[in-house]
Amino acid sequence: MISKLLPFMRCPVCSHAVVVESSEGLMCDRCHAFFPLKSGIVDMLPNEAEEVITPFQRLMQTPAIVSVYEGMWRRIGYYLASSRSFASELETVLRITSTRGDAGALDLACGTGVFTRPLARSKPGLVIGLDLSWPMLRHARRLVTREGLDNVLFVRATAFRMPFRDSAFPFVNCCGALHLFDRPDDALKEIRRVLSPGGRFSVQTTIRPERSGGMAYVLERFIRFGFFNEAVLRQKLQRHGFDIVESERHRISFTFLARRID
Ligand SMILES: C[S@@+](CC[C@H](N)C(=O)[O-])C[C@H]1O[C@@H](n2cnc3c(N)ncnc32)[C@H](O)[C@@H]1O
Ligand SMILES: [Zn+2]
Repeated sequence: MISKLLPFMRCPVCSHAVVVESSEGLMCDRCHAFFPLKSGIVDMLPNEAEEVITPFQRLMQTPAIVSVYEGMWRRIGYYLASSRSFASELETVLRITSTRGDAGALDLACGTGVFTRPLARSKPGLVIGLDLSWPMLRHARRLVTREGLDNVLFVRATAFRMPFRDSAFPFVNCCGALHLFDRPDDALKEIRRVLSPGGRFSVQTTIRPERSGGMAYVLERFIRFGFFNEAVLRQKLQRHGFDIVESERHRISFTFLARRID
C-alpha cells in the first residue's frame, strides 16, 4: 500500500525526487536516508530536534485530549469560535472542495483525520494525511482502519519541509492549524511548492476577535494559540502567490478556498 505514496514523495533530507520502497519503509535513492514505517505511518521527519512544539500543541496531543478531540474538543472549540456547528463547517469545506483532488489530495496537519476521512469518502484519489504528532496520527490511522477506507495514507512530517515533490497535488486542505503553526510563512511557502499550477488550497483558521476581554492576548502569549488579522492574512496569501476565490466568515472563524497564482 505505501507504494501508492511514491509518485508524490521527495526526500526531506536532500530534496531528491526519487524515493523508493524499502523493507519496512521508504528510502531516498540518492542520499539513502531511510524513513521507517511505524504502526502503518511513514516517519519522514529527519530532524525531530528542529521542531518547536508549542504549549497548545503539547496539550492537544495528550492521550486525554486525543481521545475526545473529534467528539468534543474540536466541536466545542469550533462552536465557541463561530456560533455554528462543526457539521456545518465540514459541509462548507466539502462543498468548496467538491471538484478538487481526484488526482490526489493532501490534508496538512490532519490531526485525528476529522477532515481526511470525509475528503477520502468524497474523492476517488489517494488522500495523504500529514501531521507532526504521533498520538494524533496513530488515532487517525485507527479510525481510517475502523471505517475501512482504502484511499488514505498517513505521513509524519513537518509542514515547514514537506516530503513531497514540487507540484505534487492539485489540492491541499489545512484546517484548524495555520494559526497554530510556529512558522506560518514557511508553511505557506511549502504549500505553494507542493500545489500544482492552478491548484487549490482550503483553510479554516481563526481571526483575532476585536473584543475578548484579554482572552486572545492570554491565549497567544501563554499557550501560543494564534489569531490572524483578516486583512493581513489576505495580503500574506497574495505575497505567497495565492488568490482567495471563495470565503466564509463566522464570527472569528474564517474558511476560504485559495488558488495558486501562476
Ligand atoms: C487543531 S489540530 C487540527 C487537526 C485537524 N486538521 C482539524 O481541523 O481538526 C492542529 C494539528 O496541527 C499539527 N501540527 C502542528 N504543527 C505542525 C507542523 N509543523 N507540521 C505538521 N503538523 C503540525 C498538530 O500536531 C495538530 O494535529
Ligand atoms: Zn535524500
